[in-house]
Amino acid sequence: MAKRAQKTDQSNGASQADTAAEIARLTAEIARHDALYHRDDAPEISDADYDAMRRELDALEKAHPELVRPDSPSNRVGSAPRDAFGKVRHAVPMLSLGNAFSAEDVSEFEARIRKFLSLTPDDDLAFTAEPKIDGLSIALRYEAGRFAQAATRGDGQEGEDVTANVETIKAIPKRLKGKSIPDVLEVRGEIYLGHDDFAALNAAQEAAGAKTFANPRNAAAGSLRQLDVSVTASRPLKFFAYTWGEVSSLPADTQSGMIATFAGWGLPTNPLTERCASADDLIAYYEARNADRAGLGYDIDGIVYKVDRLDYQDRLGFVSRAPRWAIAHKFPAEQAVTRLEAIDIQVGRTGSLTPVAKLQSVNVGGVVVSNATLHNEDEIARKDVRVGDLVRLQRAGDVIPQVLGPAPGNERGPNSKPFVFPDICPVCGSHAVREVDAKGVADVVRRCTGGLVCPAQAKERLRHYVSRNAVDIEGLGGKQVEFLYETGRVMQPADIYTLAARDARHSEPLATVKGYGAKSVEKLFAAIEDRRTVPLDRLIFGLGIRHVGDGTAADLAGAFGTWDAFRAAVDRAVADGLHTADGKPTEAALEFLSLDGIGETVVAALISFFEEDHNIAAVDALLKEVTPEPFTREVATQSAVLGKTVVFTGTLEKLSRSEAKAQAERLGAKVSGSVSKKTDIVVAGAEAGSKLTKARDLGVQVLDEQGWLDLIAES
Ligand code: IVH
Repeated sequence: MAKRAQKTDQSNGASQADTAAEIARLTAEIARHDALYHRDDAPEISDADYDAMRRELDALEKAHPELVRPDSPSNRVGSAPRDAFGKVRHAVPMLSLGNAFSAEDVSEFEARIRKFLSLTPDDDLAFTAEPKIDGLSIALRYEAGRFAQAATRGDGQEGEDVTANVETIKAIPKRLKGKSIPDVLEVRGEIYLGHDDFAALNAAQEAAGAKTFANPRNAAAGSLRQLDVSVTASRPLKFFAYTWGEVSSLPADTQSGMIATFAGWGLPTNPLTERCASADDLIAYYEARNADRAGLGYDIDGIVYKVDRLDYQDRLGFVSRAPRWAIAHKFPAEQAVTRLEAIDIQVGRTGSLTPVAKLQSVNVGGVVVSNATLHNEDEIARKDVRVGDLVRLQRAGDVIPQVLGPAPGNERGPNSKPFVFPDICPVCGSHAVREVDAKGVADVVRRCTGGLVCPAQAKERLRHYVSRNAVDIEGLGGKQVEFLYETGRVMQPADIYTLAARDARHSEPLATVKGYGAKSVEKLFAAIEDRRTVPLDRLIFGLGIRHVGDGTAADLAGAFGTWDAFRAAVDRAVADGLHTADGKPTEAALEFLSLDGIGETVVAALISFFEEDHNIAAVDALLKEVTPEPFTREVATQSAVLGKTVVFTGTLEKLSRSEAKAQAERLGAKVSGSVSKKTDIVVAGAEAGSKLTKARDLGVQVLDEQGWLDLIAES
């Protein structure tokens, strides 16, 4: 994996454009890794690295909500890989809507329009008002009245071709009926799932042990974007038409006329759509819907107002990505009060411990909620929510229901006590820790350290161990690992190597299992045998230690050379810890910290991992089965710098830093990041600073770049 310079937080100077570019890069990288993982079963990076990337993006998004991209993984819904569907370019872009949050905003909206159109207060200006459906927008293309293509909104310019999925939705007519249907008609609207259907779907998912959806919108999106269209067909998706894209001839000259015509052609339209003659009428409509929305049977998150006359719409046009002639008047999030019965801790596949509120079931705006998120340990403490409390919870659009805090009037009995977040993983009993960053700030997420043994993570770890950049066992992909794990055949990496011997005695040998067969089993066992000798860096990477990606693993392997040397250094670090009592790195930690590319985060992660008895047992068992191949870069056996420890500092002119490092290592030198008594040579480029001073203080040999080049030219 390519290493990349750590970007510092934008608060210390990176420009908005840099941050936006970094967000774009991370978003694209995460999408690529999602696809590798979910679609190809061929992850390229460890969970730890993936997770770090997600957290990096989350932090940037939190600091810059205005830069969150529409394709952010935080917004992503559904399970299908992003590039599984063909692309459709929208002939007319699919725009979004501006928002109004108050009656005042609505008056201003009206005033802006009157001004733009030069209308006097006496001139008529009618609007339509209709619910804003909380689903996903879709463009349906009809040619000569027949359904021809369906595309999602995507980025507004280009969406995904979901024609095959939409074909299966009964609520969408495949043939329009009636007269004067344009040759080309692109109807746009919202696909959604009703409350009852959502509840039934989640109940069925739960019964089947499948993942449940947080809200009807996610369920609708997940149901539509399915590679297997029979899944879409089994979900009772609904549709409302509310606007249009490309149309060969317009059948009406008002918004309300268009919607009525759509209805006449057999397209579902919202019966609550009304024509309003004034802004006051709009507000009255809004209030009425806000009062009865919980009983509608589907989620709406506001009211959309549109100028009724299409000639006005044309004149008003668009500003940035939203029409001037329409606006969404948002509803406040729906809230309810209920009893917090328990706080469960869920362990994610990367070991994160997440608190989930178990609630007395309550109806929040039409949806029955019995689980909600409590975010993390600090949030529980900050809100001081306790088991037994009456709590206020909120459900807003796409957001997972969340507990806001104790409800007004909550009374506590004598037994009420603050929630104590566990520091032991509830699944495997390993320690759960909060990482502390270089500034001493603890991560909000507590994580299980029993990566190799924790059932919540073990499958992921196994997948990682066998993956291409790790030990790379051919024929052992994600699906096979899943099966071997679920049937108890392989629970941790060591078991892979004893599989063949155990299989011979198994009541159901693999060769008799559907989908295997004698030949493929033979091949699999041969591939496993082939990997009894594993390059040291791949083995270290394969352990799936947090923050130890393949680059870091190679750095560690390169520095220590053998497993035993690496392990001994780790054990010293475990014994001594990261810091001394006065906050300085310990000698043992310095052994790592003096290596190029290894910082405190990595050392802390190594300590956490090798502190855990469960992990040690799993690693020891593994080392009984595999032989780590000592790490050898192609290194010269004779050179002027063989065995010397070299530090590069300052700006080099002729060589890049990484080139200089690689060159030195090829010649058998050890390249270190910091100057100590053990340093033999410091190569100082332009503007070398404290390292040069230290070298001089310690009496270490100092060379300039040319001096270094001359020295190695002798080799
Ligand atoms: S009209 C040119 N009407 O809201 C804009 N949009 O926030 C045309 N939406 O992407 C949109 N209900 O997915 C319109 N009755 C409604 C709607 C509606 C939901 C969605 C739509 C759009 C988003 C904008």
